[in-house]
Amino acid sequence: MLNKIEQNKIYEMDCFEFLNHIKNDSINLAVIDPPYNMRKTDWDTFKSEKDFFDFTFAWIDALIPKLKKNGSLYIFNTPYNSAFILQYLVKKGLNFQNWITWDKRDGMGGAHRRFSNGQETIVFFTKGAKHTFNYNDVRVPYKSPGRIEHAKKKGILKNGKHWFPNPKGRLCSEVWHITSERHKNKVNGRVQKMKHITPKPLELVERIITASSNENDVILDCFVGIGTTAIVAKKLKRNFLCCDAEKAYVKIAGERLREIK
Ligand SMILES: C[S@@+](CC[C@H](N)C(=O)[O-])C[C@H]1O[C@@H](n2cnc3c(N)ncnc32)[C@H](O)[C@@H]1O
Repeated sequence: MLNKIEQNKIYEMDCFEFLNHIKNDSINLAVIDPPYNMRKTDWDTFKSEKDFFDFTFAWIDALIPKLKKNGSLYIFNTPYNSAFILQYLVKKGLNFQNWITWDKRDGMGGAHRRFSNGQETIVFFTKGAKHTFNYNDVRVPYKSPGRIEHAKKKGILKNGKHWFPNPKGRLCSEVWHITSERHKNKVNGRVQKMKHITPKPLELVERIITASSNENDVILDCFVGIGTTAIVAKKLKRNFLCCDAEKAYVKIAGERLREIK
């Protein structure tokens, strides 16, 4: 299939039609934040769990051939749904890299018969073994600043050698403490109406794109909502191929994108 879709535009289109226009082996990184079947809005409501997984596995089947041979794939979802998605991707022959737990610093709902929800999952898979992973560019601050200050001067003796901290921080673990947009935008503790029901934080997507792609790479997101992946891709000088089925979101995504110089 010819690539009829232009890079660096956001299309109002169903994910299957969109994927059908994209050339096989053309995508370096797919960042996919799909429906979760949480039933809070029309596009996230399926008749049954079976219908939800039929839909999910169908878009995964359509997407896998589009990844380059060393391409990477990140999929967001609930921990429960991610357990099935992980099994499916393993069965399809992709290489498991990480189960990322996003601690949203939010979501303390009124659960009284189990623990409250406070996380989402991002599964990270690659197609081949020689994938991009810029681990030095996603380092995070060390946990004990006092000890690190001391170590910077004299080093810490480990197995007979002096260890000095990396000036860029420690390696990033697979537990990410990033405040959700919903929580960030609360006023006096009250949730405010947002432009999208589940926008992802820019810094979360920035970590994924920085780690798993390089400048001029092509990033795919076929559920782009109000444009988070496209905005980060543009900021980081990557190319993007993005769509969403909802006209109102695509309009907002375009407006947000135009603000990025
Ligand atoms: C979880 S949201 C993505 C939010 C996005 N990451 C952001 O930060 O704005 C999922 C998106 O999938 C879109 N969607 C649902 N079904 C779709 C379909 N069949 N094809 C394309 N987009 C679809 C919805 O409109 C929604 O914006």
